[in-house]
Amino acid sequence: MDTIQIKDKLFTISIGREEIQKEVKRVAEEINRDLEGRNPLFLSVLNGSFMFTADLMKYITIPCEVSFVKLASYQGVASTGTIKEVIGINEDLTNRTVVIVEDIVDTGLTMQRLLETLGTRNPKEIKIATLLLKPDKLKVELDIEYIAMKIPNDFIVGYGLDYDGFGRNYPDIYTVIP
Ligand code: IMP
Ligand code: MG
Repeated sequence: MDTIQIKDKLFTISIGREEIQKEVKRVAEEINRDLEGRNPLFLSVLNGSFMFTADLMKYITIPCEVSFVKLASYQGVASTGTIKEVIGINEDLTNRTVVIVEDIVDTGLTMQRLLETLGTRNPKEIKIATLLLKPDKLKVELDIEYIAMKIPNDFIVGYGLDYDGFGRNYPDIYTVIP
């Protein structure tokens, strides 16, 4: 299946499963090396990062915990527009090494919001691990330590990422055909 259709759009395969796995494994090995002895808490951001998290964790060999958070959008007061609230943090982050596991950093605004929220809970340090980064779209300054793959600005689906809720199930990554 080199081309798929989701609703009104056609997508073509752009990153195959072997390449994804190779880069996910590389990131896991970097984390194993860097965070040895720190018992990191991986915080996976649902929904998009479920597949990346599952594969990444299989290659992590140091003692660690994994948990899941979600960003819920709600309509703020008129002046602030849509606000994203982080829900599902049940762990005590005090003095912990936290690794945020994200599917994609686009403008970086979502990640900035996460860092703000988690930062108030007194972690020792917060690291970012993202499957994908669109470097040309980044609007805020972020120190992203672990990046599996950098991609152009085009819209993609698969391997956890969706178009209007669909397409998360594919093991490969597909790019929209304009
Ligand atoms: P940001 O706040 O602009 O960095 O957006 C991050 C979120 O936008 C991600 O967590 C994704 O849910 C979504 N997103 C950004 N680019 C894509 C894409 O190409 N395909 C699917 N979702 C995307
Ligand atoms: Mg996401």
